[in-house]
Amino acid sequence: MSFVVAIDGPSGTGKGTIAKLIAQELDLVNIDTGAMYRCIALACLTEGITNNEERERIIEIARRVEIQIRHNGVEQEIFLDNRNVSKEIRSQEVTMMASQVSAIPEVREIMVNLQRKMAEGEDVIMEGRDIATEVFPNAQVKIYLDATSEERANRRYKENQEKGINSDMTYEQVLKTIEKRDYDDSHRTVGALKIAEGAIVVDTTKMTIEEVKEKVKEIILERRK
Ligand code: DC
Repeated sequence: MSFVVAIDGPSGTGKGTIAKLIAQELDLVNIDTGAMYRCIALACLTEGITNNEERERIIEIARRVEIQIRHNGVEQEIFLDNRNVSKEIRSQEVTMMASQVSAIPEVREIMVNLQRKMAEGEDVIMEGRDIATEVFPNAQVKIYLDATSEERANRRYKENQEKGINSDMTYEQVLKTIEKRDYDDSHRTVGALKIAEGAIVVDTTKMTIEEVKEKVKEIILERRK
């Protein structure tokens, strides 16, 4: 059986950055499941669907599109129907739509099956909201990263400025978005964000990325022995 590191937690806890760094250092395949929901959201927006009302069409899109995570040796690149959408899926519009499509149980089922398939025969570090609760409840390592919403908004705001993504958003707008997503992510009927049984909670509020990385690595290496 493959070795699975499941990392869950709300947005802005550094899951993506941590998973990427650890994947490189411990030779694990990094799978960003949020990017997959973002791809469905982007495909919906491209076809003129802007909310959850057209449920059947969204499910049809989730069944139809091809999502790939390719690793170029440095980082993962996200392809939607063979088009590199790595940057496009980070826009504010896609972010809000991703939260909506991820609330549809049928869409989740399609994504969860795809995530399990992607991990077949690989040693992976997979990050998302429901990895340790739904996708791999038997993962060898389960970690829940947390931080206060203010600190997460602070990080996301800085990241936006640095990367030039959503750089017109104020700190207050970023905080509001994070709080709304927290609410939506933890109140949906299927795959809601929660701490899995047996998960180790790491509160990153006062930690640097380097410290979080070392802590998570220590937990993984302890289990991998
Ligand atoms: O981690 P992220 O911000 O890229 O996630 C985008 C959206 O997808 C977010 O609203 C939560 C949802 N998501 C999910 O429901 N389940 C996952 N395993 C990963 C993300």
